[in-house]
Order: sequence, then structure tokens, then C-alpha cells
Amino acid sequence: MSWIKTIETARLADEGVACAEAAGRRIAFYEVEGEFFATDDLCTHGRAFLSDGYLDGHMIECPLHQGLFDVRTGAPCGAPCTEAIRTYPVRVEDGVLHVMVEEG
Ligand code: FES
Repeated sequence: MSWIKTIETARLADEGVACAEAAGRRIAFYEVEGEFFATDDLCTHGRAFLSDGYLDGHMIECPLHQGLFDVRTGAPCGAPCTEAIRTYPVRVEDGVLHVMVEEG
């Protein structure tokens, strides 16, 4: 496990959500009230990217069937999602998001 440098926090300014690749995974980043969170970008229900969805508070709404996840914990919070999404530790250094993902 190591910290991987990804995108600038400014990328989250408009929608509060954006995606980046890290260690071969597609990660969704979120900003809620000045705090940053990261999850897998792929929804656990189907083939849709949460970074294309709508962020409302700590809830990300999947663009395909409007399932909900809490970006802090990855917990499913609205049908049809029942399986949690994976979350990752995030830190900010010089305005850039770093995420902890296992390499390989
Ligand atoms: Fe995300 Fe169905 S693909 S809710």
C-alpha cells in the first residue's frame, strides 16, 4: 500500500465529484464541506460510474438506477444497491489528492 498522487482538488470544485486512475483502479473522489473522500468509481449494482452521478451531501447517486451510497463509508443507502463500494484513505498535499491503494 502506498500513497498515489492523483488530481488537483480544484477538479472537484464544480460538481464535488471527479474520477482518476490510481494503481490501475478507477477511483471517484468527493468533496463535502471541505472534506475529501474516495471510493471505487464503478457502482456495485451495474456498469455505471459514480463520478457521473449526483452528489448530495455525503450521498452519491448512481446515474444508471439512482442507487445511493454514503461516500464516507461506502455503505449502500438506497435501492437497488445492496453491496457496499470500497473506500480508500485520502489526503491532500499542495492542493493535490493522494489516495492509498494497493499497487499491482
Ligand atoms: Fe448503479 Fe444500478 S448501476 S444503481
